[in-house]
Amino acid sequence: MRSAAMLSLTVALAAVLCEPTLSSASADDQAHAAIAGQVTSAAEGAMEGVVVTAHEHGSIVSVSVVTNAKGHYAFPENRLVPGHYTLAIRATGYDLSAPAAIDVVAEQTSNVDLKLVPTKDLPDQLTDAEWMMSVPGTDNQKAVLLDCTSCHTLERIVLSTHDVDEWMQVVHRMKGYGNVSQPVKPQPMLDTKRAGSPEQYRKLAEYLATINLSSTDKWAYPLKTLPRPTGDSTQVIVTEYNLPRPTIEPHDIVRDKDGNIWYTDFGEMFISKFDPRTLKLTEYPIKTFKLDAPVGLLSLAFDKEGMLWFDTMYQGAIGTIDPRTGKTTYYPLPAKWNYRGVQLNFVGLRHDVDDKVWTKEVGQQYVYRLDLATGDWQRFHPTDSLPDAAHHHYGIYQVISDAQNNLWMAEFSEGYLGKIDAKTLQVTWYAPPTPHARLRRMEVRPNGDIVVTEYRGNKVAVFDPKTEKFTEYSMPPGTYPYRANFDKNGDIWASTMSTDRVVRMDPKTGQTDQYLMPSDTNMRTVYVDNTTNPVSFWVGSNHDHAVVRVEPLN
Ligand code: HEC
Repeated sequence: MRSAAMLSLTVALAAVLCEPTLSSASADDQAHAAIAGQVTSAAEGAMEGVVVTAHEHGSIVSVSVVTNAKGHYAFPENRLVPGHYTLAIRATGYDLSAPAAIDVVAEQTSNVDLKLVPTKDLPDQLTDAEWMMSVPGTDNQKAVLLDCTSCHTLERIVLSTHDVDEWMQVVHRMKGYGNVSQPVKPQPMLDTKRAGSPEQYRKLAEYLATINLSSTDKWAYPLKTLPRPTGDSTQVIVTEYNLPRPTIEPHDIVRDKDGNIWYTDFGEMFISKFDPRTLKLTEYPIKTFKLDAPVGLLSLAFDKEGMLWFDTMYQGAIGTIDPRTGKTTYYPLPAKWNYRGVQLNFVGLRHDVDDKVWTKEVGQQYVYRLDLATGDWQRFHPTDSLPDAAHHHYGIYQVISDAQNNLWMAEFSEGYLGKIDAKTLQVTWYAPPTPHARLRRMEVRPNGDIVVTEYRGNKVAVFDPKTEKFTEYSMPPGTYPYRANFDKNGDIWASTMSTDRVVRMDPKTGQTDQYLMPSDTNMRTVYVDNTTNPVSFWVGSNHDHAVVRVEPLN
């Protein structure tokens, strides 16, 4: 969305150039600003919480700041090199009244006041969370939409005209795509059984036909929007580094000790290293084991020796890449278990304890343990001990190792947290207080606590293995957190595929800041960077092929 808006701004730019005007920005804003000004509209006057983005023609970098309570914005001069910039905004319900562009000159503040007018295309501006708030339906009905937001936004669904019969076919087609897919690159799974049959989606199809345009030209329901950021949530600089192809989907992100950003490409066979100082991108090719299977990688994490481990999803292997040399090593699943449609995700990485790594498979829900010394693989089916396992299709999302290399498992269909004891191999499942929470990503805290996101539960939970108790923290409405972690100050950071807002919560008070991204980011991981003051963090924009840095100012 952002790219399209930028393009039209650039095209229109030749026609209307914003003349520098006398700015109403405060003296303080201007002191160190490259561009500063005020954002107003007829309806609201000065507008708080408007994201203003500056993009230099031809650059891969876009920098965004947010207007304060007086409607003022200011780009610090050390963030914009001299050059010709277009300005874009994000404020749901509004567009710029005219294209805005300005030359940044060294050691001068260029003043640009921006006028906003009501948008002609509100539906195009809604986030998934806002569609979920707007559409009619019970919580149970709406919850199924949480399975439709990973590859594209809900806009496609509500704008469609499919009736019930068509919806059964469409949903069946969707369920046959590997989750590495995007509309620019559909990737059908080899395991066609996983999609089930069209008939099994009748109930869902009946619901979908009540929220789209199958029987009406205009939605009968009003479109609801989330409030714009206020107060501390406006005190942030967001830098987006655009990646060269729309098929790149940065998924898991880690920063190495030299400041390079590493990410798995969810849509292609690369592990990539991005240096934000030089803007150099190095893509390391990863081996394709099955030419006809979907391509893309999900997890990425350092082990204790500084080696990066990754999964290869539908390619049926896990592997390592040495960040110093780029050398890769692969551990494919043994042939007897490596069926055509296999999907391996996540690696449990405390082999410094016992020389063993864990991983798990999605379609049939096996957990595997590889002995690195002998090359032997073991296989487990831990969901067997969950309630009524024979009639319930349980699914494990992430697995992660604790300090003893016990395996922790986040169950995604209902929401159990599981453990496999590394020594006794005993399986234990724990149920969080929130029913149907759907557990997704985990972190192990230095004290051994397990941090886990409750995707449907809309909470972040912390499980203490000593007391076997969960503590749950409610996220802002519509967040549906994907991944969360604590920073060095004890704040929780969470990513979301729904609101486009990175959440920062003080768990002691429950207070949150929400940093609104400049565009549809569909974040998966947050990487909390504790080396900066204040703490900053990185997210991958899965839908908008960018690496994004978020720097709160306080
Ligand atoms: C695994 C990725 C993925 C998921 C999850 C997904 N989709 Fe899609 N969707 C796609 C792709 C790829 C396309 C474009 C290719 C196509 O139309 O088959 C698409 C296109 C669409 C379209 C537009 C095309 C049409 O036929 O109208 C609709 C509507 C749609 N999806 C609905 C849904 C619904 C409803 C869900 C949730 C039940 C969903 N999608 C979940 C990948 C996905």
